[in-house]
Amino acid sequence: MADISSNDIFEILDLAKKLKAKPLLKASFLKNQSIALIFAKPSLRTRVSFEVGITQLGGKSIVIKMDEINVGIRENVEDIANVLSRYVSGIVIRTYEQKQISDLGKYSAVPVINALSNEEHPCQIVSDLFTIKEIFSKLSGLKIAYIGDGNNIVHSLLIGAALTNMDISIATPKQYPPEKSYVNLAKKLNPKINIEVTNIPSDAAKNANVLYTDVWVSMGQEKEAKQRKKIFAPYQINDKLLSVANKNSIVLHCLPAHKEQEITSKIFDEFSSIIYQQAENRLHAQKAILLKLIGTK
Ligand code: CP
Ligand code: NVA
Repeated sequence: MADISSNDIFEILDLAKKLKAKPLLKASFLKNQSIALIFAKPSLRTRVSFEVGITQLGGKSIVIKMDEINVGIRENVEDIANVLSRYVSGIVIRTYEQKQISDLGKYSAVPVINALSNEEHPCQIVSDLFTIKEIFSKLSGLKIAYIGDGNNIVHSLLIGAALTNMDISIATPKQYPPEKSYVNLAKKLNPKINIEVTNIPSDAAKNANVLYTDVWVSMGQEKEAKQRKKIFAPYQINDKLLSVANKNSIVLHCLPAHKEQEITSKIFDEFSSIIYQQAENRLHAQKAILLKLIGTK
């Protein structure tokens, strides 16, 4: 997330707004070009929104399941990056280790876009910033509260908040805080915002404009599910927590959601139109990301 600047984000958000109003505005941007989409983990939203977006930009997507190419096992990242760069105009990759993505970026002659790693999920957050701006007509000065696991979502959210001048409060169980390096990077990028990391959900949610949550068990952590569900039980977005937030606050969820775990069905239903708007916006925001990045490396 920190590879783009504050200006880049606002440029992407403006572009996303134009593309949402007119989906075929740049219908020949990727004409005769292909984008590789590499997936080592499951995906509904990211994969489909990228594929649809690439189609609407006039290009072709090539989906490659990780077990077809086995980065680092069948061949090394350097060779894969060099070879793919000679075929496609961009590489989108969802994998486990962030290093695999940065190595691919180092050796690739075309832009590499992180479609989720264990550490970050920047495309999700760019799109979420777009959704928040659509609803509040601004970002600067808002307070976002993230309740749940100190995971990839919250890392990118921290950087996104810093780059757009939003205050951010994070409540996680003490065993699962966000990585300190992301908290410190956000502070460094924007010393003016308030950043709070706590173990008390109601402290984080107090006066928040946006409540945000994500699954308690991320992809790859399935073996920890039983233990995590027990520890995370007090970190649910429910009526009681919502009551301490700002009167006109909204609830966001990147999805997939596990109702009655991180969010009650009641709250999900109350905010479902916003949560589905949030999911739809992945399409518009990622088209804007492609427009901004493809052809720049
Ligand atoms: N929110 C999100 O990235 O969804 P998928 O895992 O289905 O792509
Ligand atoms: N934290 C979740 C996000 C899913 C979009 C995961 O990594 O599985």
